[in-house]
Amino acid sequence: MRRGKYVVAYHCLKKLFEPGRIGPLELRNRIVMPAVCENFATDDGFITERAIEYYRRRSQGGVGMIIYGASVIYHPQARAVINSAISDDKYIPGLAKLAEAIKSGGAKACIQIMHAGRQTKSSIAKAHPVCPSPVPFIRGSLLYPEVPRELTKDEIHDIIKAFGAAARRAREAGWDAVELHAAHGYLLHSFLNPYVNMRKDEYGGLEGGLRFMEELIGGVRDNIGKDMALLVRINGEDYVAEGGITLVESHIIAKALEKFGVDAINISGRTRDTNHPLGDASMASPPGTWVYAAEAIKKAVNIPVIIVHRIYDPFYAEQILAEGKADFVAVARQTLADPEWPLKAREGRFEDIRPCIYCNEGCYDTLWTLKPITCTVNPMLGREYEIKVAPADKPKNVVVVGGGPAGLSAAETLARRGHKVTLFEKSYKLGGMLIYSIGSPFRQEIARLIKYYEVQLYKLGVDVKLGKEFTPEMVDVYRPDAVVIATGAEPIVPKLEGINAGYDTPKVVNAVDVLAGRVKVGDKVLIWTCSFYCPYVCGTLKRARAACGAGYAAVYATEKLASEGKLVYLVSERSEITPGIGFTTRVPLFNRLFFMGVKMAKNVRVKGITDGGVIVSGAGVDTKIAVDTFVYSVGFKPSRSLVDALRNKVPELYVIGDAALPSNAVNAIHDGFEVALKI
Ligand SMILES: Cc1cc2nc3c(=O)[nH]c(=O)nc-3n(C[C@H](O)[C@H](O)[C@H](O)COP(=O)(O)O)c2cc1C
Ligand code: SF4
Repeated sequence: MRRGKYVVAYHCLKKLFEPGRIGPLELRNRIVMPAVCENFATDDGFITERAIEYYRRRSQGGVGMIIYGASVIYHPQARAVINSAISDDKYIPGLAKLAEAIKSGGAKACIQIMHAGRQTKSSIAKAHPVCPSPVPFIRGSLLYPEVPRELTKDEIHDIIKAFGAAARRAREAGWDAVELHAAHGYLLHSFLNPYVNMRKDEYGGLEGGLRFMEELIGGVRDNIGKDMALLVRINGEDYVAEGGITLVESHIIAKALEKFGVDAINISGRTRDTNHPLGDASMASPPGTWVYAAEAIKKAVNIPVIIVHRIYDPFYAEQILAEGKADFVAVARQTLADPEWPLKAREGRFEDIRPCIYCNEGCYDTLWTLKPITCTVNPMLGREYEIKVAPADKPKNVVVVGGGPAGLSAAETLARRGHKVTLFEKSYKLGGMLIYSIGSPFRQEIARLIKYYEVQLYKLGVDVKLGKEFTPEMVDVYRPDAVVIATGAEPIVPKLEGINAGYDTPKVVNAVDVLAGRVKVGDKVLIWTCSFYCPYVCGTLKRARAACGAGYAAVYATEKLASEGKLVYLVSERSEITPGIGFTTRVPLFNRLFFMGVKMAKNVRVKGITDGGVIVSGAGVDTKIAVDTFVYSVGFKPSRSLVDALRNKVPELYVIGDAALPSNAVNAIHDGFEVALKI
């Protein structure tokens, strides 16, 4: 069986696992882990043990090259988040340890160096953001509200020198390659972007930006010599309607970079000016969205081209390479979710790849909070230095009750540790709340995670009992050493006037039932969320930005119904709708809702339901909105009736996930993992 899989992988993924060359370097395959800043550095820019072990694991997982990033040329002035620094010789020992860890796993070690330019803020950089010209963000930016200061010519010369000095440190620290970050709207990108670079001197416009890059690259090359590779990351397109880099400019830039002696071009896309409804590489945007740009640029240059964006399927990666659209594929978040993606693909163990679901919640959305990133589906991320999933000292008989994300995660890790696991799920499907998320047309990736758990539990020998409730009487039958309660939560029914009146219209339903497709919904709908009603999260704990799941259910039910052509009102009692949803999900999501004609209102209270409509109140005025269906999603309450019944009946009892406190998938999956390490 195993051999057969090997053969499939060997024959079908030939190109992906073929060695490839970038300048003087030979990579063991065509897979690059691109720069993914993780906020693992110390606040003063030093490399940590956490980072070293995290990257060691990813190198051991089989990628051809890791681009570590981004390290900043001035600290803290050039940082955008908690970047590491390469701005002083005192950083060399830490950077050297990191390069060594990467190389020890067989990957080439490349370091990305950058200056954030206008995409930072004074509170992070401890200095005012700078730019070739003082151009603010087009729509004003939630992240970067300050208008940047124009750089003087002396400052530009200093920046060029600082990149050269950073490259020298990379060499002294033993890195194989350097990548210059000229994508995503950071400083080097701004020089190349005619929309932002309006300087009137020799560094102005695209021509001036290329002059700047030529001088900078010359300085870097002088410092690294010819036996280190030099890469530049650029945008194929910026996707900014008002202007910016398009394929026309990126062609010119790529050709110029080749002339300046660069060894490879790494193509990406978007800046913080981008206002694309599919957003920041969320699960709503199709895999390989930018491959066309790599293909076009590859035709214009003779150096290798790398392409990125949701390339998680090894066969798709192979296709991109085999069709000559790029020379290397960059795989970022999938290597966060499963560092062994390359190894498993090479061995044909596709079903063992823990899928990235492109939710952005653990990674991108955490990045901007300045906390260390994590991963929804991989609780080990960033903890490689401190924990191990080791075999249990004494294998136990464990019952897990509930097949939602928390229960699935617990069952998987318990079984990996050698425990005998029986999982009870009262419905006939595994997934719990994850299933309901798939109700939205833009959340389909989550199905891959459920499939992963189904297959892993089967392979690990977990006894899955579908359609069966675990009752206290069953303790005597199963005699568990430990019971893990992961029974989830159920929607709270608000005590609203008229809610039980049974009007023909509006019919009253909850958002989870809408997502599950269990109820009929009319053509005109009002969805109520984020009230201060929920006593479990917002009400009792007073967590200002809590994510109890009610907001998620509401917005995804909104998206489902709006995409079916219904007229939807989405109202929230808070000053923000669904405050718990992260930035990179929220912006494209609300763009989509806006384009679909959803009518959204904040600071609105639903006062009651009346025959034919819903009475809402905002700014002191009451109005009746006539709708066919009223959907509520105002909070969840833990389903844990089993807890009291089992207390003192079993040797060990644990309550996890929503059954402990309603929250999101990240917390549920991590809870399951943690409890499984304890038993
Ligand atoms: C948490 C996070 C941090 C990132 N930091 C950087 C960075 O420092 N430099 C960079 O060029 N790209 C950065 N990226 C973008 C990734 O390199 C990559 O282009 C993006 O994740 C899309 O690839 P994927 O779909 O394979 O994840 C970051 C991405 C994530 C998720
Ligand atoms: S947090 Fe979500 S998007 Fe980020 S790596 Fe993990 S699964 Fe993928």
